[in-house]
Amino acid sequence: MRIAFFTGAGISAESGIPTFRGKGGLWEKFKVEELATPEGFFRDPERVWRWYDMRRKAISEAQPNKAHRLIALIEREYRDVWVITQNVDMLHQRAGSEKVLELHGNIWRVRCLGCGAVYYEFRTPLPEYPPKCRECGGMLRPDVVWFGEPLPVDVLQKSWEIARSSDIFVVIGTSALVYPAAQLPYVAKEYGAKVVEINPESTPVSSVADVVLRKKASEGMEEFYSMLKAQAF
Ligand code: OAD
Repeated sequence: MRIAFFTGAGISAESGIPTFRGKGGLWEKFKVEELATPEGFFRDPERVWRWYDMRRKAISEAQPNKAHRLIALIEREYRDVWVITQNVDMLHQRAGSEKVLELHGNIWRVRCLGCGAVYYEFRTPLPEYPPKCRECGGMLRPDVVWFGEPLPVDVLQKSWEIARSSDIFVVIGTSALVYPAAQLPYVAKEYGAKVVEINPESTPVSSVADVVLRKKASEGMEEFYSMLKAQAF
């Protein structure tokens, strides 16, 4: 049995990391076009890097929560378990998940605009804004996907393959508004997966989900885990 978890910012909310949309969301306070587009970056790399470093600091102080941990436990118990995440915070890996597909990159990775080097940089605060490449001294950018940029092709292809071949596809904490990622629950459904949604709010996925758990991620995951154990699928 193949199980996939498709996650968004809501799964990390209980770890104290703000979501993007809705009340208290990042896009209420900050301008997406200034901070999460290539144009915004090239206009003011220092501003963008300060914002990312502020988020890196907050993430470094956060811990994976029960929802992340239950997903990792399910992977250990059921083996063919995948996480497809839109999150860049690495909390799934820190909770112990191994098969994690990062659709929108990783806030702990940097990419050199000069030589193309990609590596993990865990220091926060960074020594300077924008930081410089350790290989060539060129300007670094966060290795995340910004609006208007394509998603990494290998990750996208693998995610589609997993969605098409999943028996259970669990959608957690995403507004399901940002494409192409938001297409995945529909692909899974089309190819025969049972779709489960865990979200305190209604989303476009709710109408196609076989099971809707109107709960926070940790409580919803506890309920999902009980259902799985009871072979409810
Ligand atoms: P959003 O901020 O758009 O949506 C967060 C979702 O989490 C909402 O549906 C909330 O109802 C739900 N939520 C809030 N608290 C929750 C909790 N405790 N448990 C479960 N769910 C909860 O975040 P994403 O859907 O991840 O992209 O956003 C998608 C993309 O838009 C992000 O990856 C990012 C953003 O701009 C890029 O940066 C490219």
